[in-house]
Amino acid sequence: MNNFRFCSPTEFIFGKNTICKVAQLVKQYGGSKVLIHYGNKSAKKSGLLTQIENCFQNEFIEYVKLGGVQPNPIDELVYKGIELGRKEKVNFILAIGGGSVIDSAKAIAAGILYNGDFWNFFEGIVTINHALPIATVLTLPAAGSEGSPNTVITKTDGMLKRGIGSSFIRPVFSIMDPVLTFTLPTCQTVYGIADMMAHVMERYFTQTQGVDITDRMCESILLSIIHSAKTLIREPENYDARANIMWASTIAHNGICGVGREEDWATHALEHELSALYNIAHGAGLAVMFPAWMQYVYTAGIDRFVQFATRVWNIENIGSKKEIALKGIHALKDFFSSIKLPINFEQLGAQKSDIDKLIDTLKINTKGKLGNFLLLDMNDARAIYEIAA
Ligand code: NZQ
Ligand code: ZN
Repeated sequence: MNNFRFCSPTEFIFGKNTICKVAQLVKQYGGSKVLIHYGNKSAKKSGLLTQIENCFQNEFIEYVKLGGVQPNPIDELVYKGIELGRKEKVNFILAIGGGSVIDSAKAIAAGILYNGDFWNFFEGIVTINHALPIATVLTLPAAGSEGSPNTVITKTDGMLKRGIGSSFIRPVFSIMDPVLTFTLPTCQTVYGIADMMAHVMERYFTQTQGVDITDRMCESILLSIIHSAKTLIREPENYDARANIMWASTIAHNGICGVGREEDWATHALEHELSALYNIAHGAGLAVMFPAWMQYVYTAGIDRFVQFATRVWNIENIGSKKEIALKGIHALKDFFSSIKLPINFEQLGAQKSDIDKLIDTLKINTKGKLGNFLLLDMNDARAIYEIAA
């Protein structure tokens, strides 16, 4: 196991009827004027936005609102949020939504206190060294942004989708009421499931030896997600299944599963090009790309793939390692298919003829190299896109 430092200070307020705590929590974390950031329809339609506004009014907390975050959030709204936040002198950002809203809020929180173009963070020209406190009311378990130090934004000029991380933008608190996720359409539920599984697997597939504790944590999280996912397909309003999925999204990505081990992240890089080009859901792209990546790299660490097959998919330890490893990969693909996730370019709405475009932007975003389990170059990336197609 590698040496590590781990600090995950977000306070999680989890369960039914927890929304009403929002005003007290904002005060506790020093907020007196809040920028409330949200998406297009869902927070208004469900009444959540009004509920939160009422909570603020009752506690005499001032606020301004900025809605309209689109899935795969873009730089333009971040600039607007920075301008509004400065003009209104807000000192706290509250995101109400899923990963896109939270990521946009994080970029605004850092951008307000930075005297230059916030995109410089994403170019790697400067690092974030302070930010306004940001908190979340999570409505979609998927990206894990409610507990992660990361934000992913797309620059519309060139459609460059990039992620950065900083402890300054880790939420100070996240309210997580699983009942809020009852309104999710099945497609968003399953995209979220693919994303959280991918966050675990990006960490699970490592060459670092002697990491049994995090291996077993990853495996048990995957098993729980698979179990609850099957329940949710039958019973979308099963509270415990929603609750388990919601907590899984957080622990899949708050860093706890990755301590002491080298992580991979090639599949996320490959996927981000798809969601940037087609504006498709990140989780849908991952469902297509993860099995394709596995098929390409499994021989570089076959014992780990055998472990994945036997411990997560209950594949019998009979036959060659190669056969067992491939059965595990197929089991993942079959599971994705069974919960109506896409598993190839056609089902995703992507075109094989666009692989050149995907490679062009991937090369810019990764400087030509990606992954750790097996270090990949652009020829490898092309081969993986071809498997996925
Ligand atoms: O805009 P509204 O109307 O709110 O609708 C949203 C949106 O259309 C809807 N939705 C959210 N909560 C709902 C709901 N609909 C009904 N009921 C509810 N309770 O769901 C749609 C998708 O929302 P979005 O936030 O885009 O989804 P997700 O949470 O999957 O976030 C995806 C983004 O997160 C990034 C992805 O790349 C993508 O841009 N990621 C962020 C990460 C991070 N910050 O750590 C890591 C991830 O790997 C990922 O890259
Ligand atoms: Zn992801």
